[in-house]
Amino acid sequence: MDVESFLKERKILIDAELEKILPPEDTFPASIHMALRHSVIDGGKRIRPILTLVVNELVGGNYQTLIPFACGIELIHAYSLIHDDLPAMDNSDFRRGKPSCHKAFGETIALLAGDALLTLAFQVMTDPVLYETHHPLSIVKAIHVIAQAAGLQGMVTGQTLDIETQGKVFDLPLLEYIHTHKTGALILAAVKAGAILGEAGEDALEAFTNYGKTIGLAFQITDDVLDVMGSTQTLGKETGLDSMQGKATYPGLLGLKESQKRIRELTQHAEQALSQFGRKAEPLKQIARYLAERTK
Ligand code: IPE
Ligand code: IPE
Ligand code: MG
Ligand code: MG
Ligand code: MG
Repeated sequence: MDVESFLKERKILIDAELEKILPPEDTFPASIHMALRHSVIDGGKRIRPILTLVVNELVGGNYQTLIPFACGIELIHAYSLIHDDLPAMDNSDFRRGKPSCHKAFGETIALLAGDALLTLAFQVMTDPVLYETHHPLSIVKAIHVIAQAAGLQGMVTGQTLDIETQGKVFDLPLLEYIHTHKTGALILAAVKAGAILGEAGEDALEAFTNYGKTIGLAFQITDDVLDVMGSTQTLGKETGLDSMQGKATYPGLLGLKESQKRIRELTQHAEQALSQFGRKAEPLKQIARYLAERTK
């Protein structure tokens, strides 16, 4: 299996749906609609919605009907990037190879664009059309998991601590707490949503939970490593900001070698977590390895 073309095929599905979800740029008032399209269209790996679809397909779900729902998770992610880049947070000028939202449209519109995307996500995920193909209870359960992950039990708490630990002394338990919350939680929720909406049983859900947790943490460690070793050109965002801003990162605490070792170990755990699915799990295993070795 060629994982890159596998991911590309699914990214095309997500991109086409996002194009439909977002209103045209000239919708009144144009400012906010331009900002939304600037931050959502033409960029990003789309790894979270892809995970939802791939997990759903593995458990025998009808993943085509889940594409809009999966896009809802990408909208939450896009909102988090806009707010993460604001001067009040990471003060990052570039995102996905373009000026970040506040650089292009100003801070007020960037705040509102984030608000709009977070709300739009829940509008899309509760679209009545989904009730034609999925159990209402499963839809509500999946949305509950996503809401937890995006909010106080996940990203918001992680982002709070990310900012509050800047320039401070931190230890490994706190660092892992920050990373699993600010980034791991939404990745885990994307995985779990695919399983829940595919009516996966308890055992399968537990396996996916272990997979999602480990790739979620590995994902942020890799992001930290790329901030040190990656190229701005390839990543589409500035590098070196973490150490400049005194962020709590894995390379900062453990060094690059140990961080890379941790990524490899977590990736192995992720693959092992899927053993009960046999060959059917090959795409998810390959995605875990691809994410561990990514350069962007
Ligand atoms: C970057 O996320 C921010 C983190 C949560 C680490 P991604 O690496 O998924 O960014 P895009 O969506 O591909 O641009
Ligand atoms: C982002 O972490 C976590 C989010 C929830 C957005 P980073 O601040 O490290 O992400 P980048 O490096 O700006 O993409
Ligand atoms: Mg940040
Ligand atoms: Mg940042
Ligand atoms: Mg980063």
